[in-house]
Amino acid sequence: MTSPEKAIASSSQVHSLVPPLKWAGGKRWLVDRLTPYWDEIQPQRLVEPFCGGLAIALGVSPQQALLNDINPHLINFYHQIQQGLSCNIRMENQADCYYQNRTEFNHLIECQQAQTAEAAQLFYYLNRTGFNGLCRFNRRGLFNVPFGRYKKINYKTDFQEYQPLFRRWTFTQGDFAALAIEAGDFIYADPPYDVEFRQYSSGGFDWSDQERLAKWLGEQSVPVIASNQATERILALYKYHGFKVDTVVAPRRISCNGDRRPAQEMLAFKGF
Ligand SMILES: C[S@@+](CC[C@H](N)C(=O)[O-])C[C@H]1O[C@@H](n2cnc3c(N)ncnc32)[C@H](O)[C@@H]1O
Repeated sequence: MTSPEKAIASSSQVHSLVPPLKWAGGKRWLVDRLTPYWDEIQPQRLVEPFCGGLAIALGVSPQQALLNDINPHLINFYHQIQQGLSCNIRMENQADCYYQNRTEFNHLIECQQAQTAEAAQLFYYLNRTGFNGLCRFNRRGLFNVPFGRYKKINYKTDFQEYQPLFRRWTFTQGDFAALAIEAGDFIYADPPYDVEFRQYSSGGFDWSDQERLAKWLGEQSVPVIASNQATERILALYKYHGFKVDTVVAPRRISCNGDRRPAQEMLAFKGF
């Protein structure tokens, strides 16, 4: 390692923290594949335009990171952890508790109180207790995931273990294209999969967004790795924008339709 700013700790050097949330499309399984590229380049900052559950950021543990997602509840949860979030709401793995907390969370959304510590606690509880860890909203932006029926859930009541890392990292909420990329960055982009329909937050990610993203990534003059479902059109799109494209077999962890079969994942590289 050269300087503290440049230094990174690879997954083989630290015991990386487990992501605090369940997240559809989580990429913990990809950490060991990505770490060698990160180690080789020794970038100054990890940029994840679609940080989701933070599997990659926590696995790589960079000194500096710019972690973005369009989901405002997710980013509020991370901001609240930076500020010392602890949970003192009722957290029980029971349907009545779940629906009460869901109603309370939606009430906070309706009265513009969703960017608060209370909303972050409820978001954490709903994520752990709801069906498949899904994060789904109706047209009015209200959370509508049903109770999950897990046998046992270990709820965290404080998130101090994440604070040293989170305080060094910057979390932003918005569309990926608003990010300011700097020399010394390393981008890992993991957008919603190219499938007919998938919704992570209000507003989907359709084919025109996939095209917009591949173009935007192709224009960045820093190393980029992008992953996606290896559909024919996605492979062609990334090749068109100058990426070297590879495919790997991915385990399916959580999916909206309960499909957990292995799937072909694309890894696209630029700037290596
Ligand atoms: C496949 S998930 C990322 C999973 C993450 N790599 C992990 O390991 O947990 C895709 C993420 O993209 C976010 N997203 C969807 N549209 C977006 C957009 N236009 N800009 C930024 N983030 C977006 C979703 O909220 C979701 O968290």
